[in-house]
Amino acid sequence: MAKAKKSWEKRLSGEPDEMTINFVESLSVDKRLYKYDIVGSIAHAQMLTERKLITKTEFKAIRAGLIEIGDEIAQGRFKFQKEYEDIHMAIEAALIAKIGRAGEKLHTGRSRNDQVATDIRLWMRDQIDVLQDKIRQLQDALVRLASKHTEEVMPAYTHLQRAQPIVIAAYLLSFVEQLERDFVRLKNCQTLLNVCPLGSGAVAGSTLPIDRKSTAEQLGLPDISYNSIDAVSDRDFCAEFIFDCALIATHLSRLAEDWIIYSSNEFACLRIDDSFCTSSSMMPQKRNPDVLELIRAKTGSAYGSLMGILTILKAQPSGYNRDLQEDKVHVFNASDTVEACLDMARAVAASMKFDTKKISASLQEGFLDATALAEYLVRKGVAFREAHGAVGSLVAHCEQQDKRLADLRLEEFGKYSAAIENDVYECLGAKNIVGRYVTEGAAGPEQAKRQIAYWKKQLAQR
Ligand code: ARG
Repeated sequence: MAKAKKSWEKRLSGEPDEMTINFVESLSVDKRLYKYDIVGSIAHAQMLTERKLITKTEFKAIRAGLIEIGDEIAQGRFKFQKEYEDIHMAIEAALIAKIGRAGEKLHTGRSRNDQVATDIRLWMRDQIDVLQDKIRQLQDALVRLASKHTEEVMPAYTHLQRAQPIVIAAYLLSFVEQLERDFVRLKNCQTLLNVCPLGSGAVAGSTLPIDRKSTAEQLGLPDISYNSIDAVSDRDFCAEFIFDCALIATHLSRLAEDWIIYSSNEFACLRIDDSFCTSSSMMPQKRNPDVLELIRAKTGSAYGSLMGILTILKAQPSGYNRDLQEDKVHVFNASDTVEACLDMARAVAASMKFDTKKISASLQEGFLDATALAEYLVRKGVAFREAHGAVGSLVAHCEQQDKRLADLRLEEFGKYSAAIENDVYECLGAKNIVGRYVTEGAAGPEQAKRQIAYWKKQLAQR
């Protein structure tokens, strides 16, 4: 293989140390930006032609050469040499080898500093579309599952203690809401990053008449950056993107944790499909929810990347510093991690089954109807605090007697509150209660059905 020629070989004497080559290269990480690098270079070259900095013939040779290089990379025929440090230098060197002198003009009025800032933005703009689509697919799986369970009741937990009865659909839709905020956050991130830094050069712009609006327009970026020093060092959009990924991971970790717990023998209300379980090399009976555990654990990797990018950016001197090269490690890691977790969560959600019989059989446990009973007393004119106290005493009484609220006779109720009448039994029992929720957004069947209709319409439009 031909020895890699450095663009700065006239400036620095001797060969770089082998260790330096390995340490400074980012090609192994940033080669996945190649398409964006090529698109950006073609736009830049086109602008150089418009500005008569290169000829039309030179532009045609540059464009054809770059397209060929793109094909070679896509087909795995391109030889990546880490001596070229990064994707920008690797492509430029290949272009010069292919077309000669015209290739040497491509970097006119440009630096890798504004080039890489542009490449990441272009990559991220597309990747946000990919992540949004995966969010939509998971939302879709959750809504489908929810529409099978609009009437069936399960306990809602607070502090992981039985709290109040809800329909299963409402539980599932709570994740659809969380994911919707993730979707919108990514959209906002995409809007903010849609700015073209090209023409900012290394840090101060250029004395050549670069037409910045032209490159921006060709790349479909609605605006240009307005300060060259800021433009080459701004990675706010990376931090924001990684934060958005980290929050998706947070939401998925909660979902995973729930389903791990719910599928345990102790809770036994959920069955994860066999295709997403693993077993034990020693204990033959095991059905382990490993994929959910890994979704839970991979959150750590996304958080690590968030801390990574923030630390890289902290107290960096103004302008471009090589520190910024490490941004991509974290951007790609957070994105890849979350993308894989979204796929996995969707697959699990699409195939898992609620054991409604078991859930239903255990609904009598845990006094899920206590709050509704207190509200019954409020409707009879009792002040809420007093009602709360009366029901608290009733629950303590039931615990001693090993009874449920619905087991008590009217006379027993009477000892705790004179306001309790025969109609109390309509308000007891988890299944009676969900149908009585009247507030907007409550966890009852009517609200769930309305939300499902809303989500089905929303998701169909995406
Ligand atoms: N590989 C570098 C990065 O990702 C490109 C810019 C390097 N610029 C420089 N002057 N060394 O940030």
